[in-house]
Amino acid sequence: MIREILRMGDPRLWRISAPVERCATPELEALLADLRDTMRANDGAGLAAPQIGVGLRVVIFGVDFNPRYPDAEPVPYTELVNPVLTPLSDELEEGWEGCLSVPGLRGVVARHAHLRYEGFDPRGHPIRREVTGFHARVVQHECDHLDGVLYPMRMADMRRFGYTDVLFPGGPGVDG
Ligand code: NI
Repeated sequence: MIREILRMGDPRLWRISAPVERCATPELEALLADLRDTMRANDGAGLAAPQIGVGLRVVIFGVDFNPRYPDAEPVPYTELVNPVLTPLSDELEEGWEGCLSVPGLRGVVARHAHLRYEGFDPRGHPIRREVTGFHARVVQHECDHLDGVLYPMRMADMRRFGYTDVLFPGGPGVDG
């Protein structure tokens, strides 16, 4: 089911989400189905459970190769429960981000360039990956939602924050 996405200003977006206690339950499957439907209906790169008002540590993300945006490297579709992120270097990388909870805007955020993420898929199987670049950025953005953080809170330069159609006339972008 396509759910309503909460937008910045809704206090539910600031909450710390709770860990999922059991995988492979009908409730968790239903939550994942709603996240999938809602992300696809909105052309998102990712979505976190709190964005649809569910305070659980569940995120999904994935980006297909799109010839319109050849620089947005593909990210495999992933459903991740109780994620834990570990930076693997001190290197930070700046990049543009958007968010389905902050529609119409883009901003530059510095993120860890190289990290490991661990967690579980909805059936309870462990996931452990080392990633870089855009993949690492998407994971950090989505996992921030679980701790009540939206990307504008991480921005250092508000001059690099603005409306997508002003910043990139006719241009690109994906939202998480
Ligand atoms: Ni987001």
